[in-house]
Amino acid sequence: MLSSQKSEMYPIAYNTWHVISATDDLVPGKVEQTYLLGEPLQFVIDDTGKPTVWRVGPQAEPKNARAYVNTQLRYGYIWCVLGEPTKGIFEIPEYSEPDRRIMNALSVGINTSPPRAVENFLDMAHFPFVHDGILGEEPHTEVVEYQVDYNEEAGEIWATDCKFYQPKAAMASTEGVMADYIYRVPHPFCAVLYKSSPEDLERMDVISVFVTPLDEEHIKAHLAICILDTTTEFDKDIRLFQQTILGQDKPILENQMPRKLPLDVRAETPIRADKSSIIYRRYLRDIGLRFGTIPEAT
Ligand SMILES: [Fe+2]
Repeated sequence: MLSSQKSEMYPIAYNTWHVISATDDLVPGKVEQTYLLGEPLQFVIDDTGKPTVWRVGPQAEPKNARAYVNTQLRYGYIWCVLGEPTKGIFEIPEYSEPDRRIMNALSVGINTSPPRAVENFLDMAHFPFVHDGILGEEPHTEVVEYQVDYNEEAGEIWATDCKFYQPKAAMASTEGVMADYIYRVPHPFCAVLYKSSPEDLERMDVISVFVTPLDEEHIKAHLAICILDTTTEFDKDIRLFQQTILGQDKPILENQMPRKLPLDVRAETPIRADKSSIIYRRYLRDIGLRFGTIPEAT
């Protein structure tokens, strides 16, 4: 399928900014390859860290020429849009606070659709079973009633008043706590988690998942960290904590079939804990997102 046909088929995904790579590990001048929405791209950063991204192969328009892609740097990542962006990249104000530790904890390829990954990130019910001893622990399996709202004007979902017992909520945790969570979905393939900071009761750690939609059933998940942590000496220990968690989620996600997310909420049995998931699917349906989803039967 030609790029122009795909952009007609998937207008929302095409006209939205997506992360294609973290900048942390890139070597200036070294050309890297990836896919975005099924289209092969190459990219490079220069000595000043400025990225250049272009389409390659038969999908390139004009044919066989370097077709440059609209690019921005934000939060330590390269963002691209293949079509005409309908809005800018969402704001995360905590990124401008000087005492935050900011890093890409990891970027991992997962054989699933972009919305399945976001939905998993929003789901607290799996903590005691998948992240036993870290983000949850039996018998503390109950998901306490929480609020979820879709703000149509802002185009964002907010889930508030989320509480969950966590034996080790963060690298800086020394004991189990009832962790307070706020989830935000400001983008169909990105979710932001605000979590009570073990170091400062007044502020929240910010952990985001930015999903690169390689194609409809393959993603790269980037875990973006923006936290308060003065006790963990090395970044690698913060990374290792997050790598352990995502490493536990990867096989679960890869075993979920179908890989594309059904937008019909009746397609998979909903339970109360799935309130965010129901709202997320409804939001994808309302904005008309097709990429990586199975539309509702009419
Ligand atoms: Fe998980």
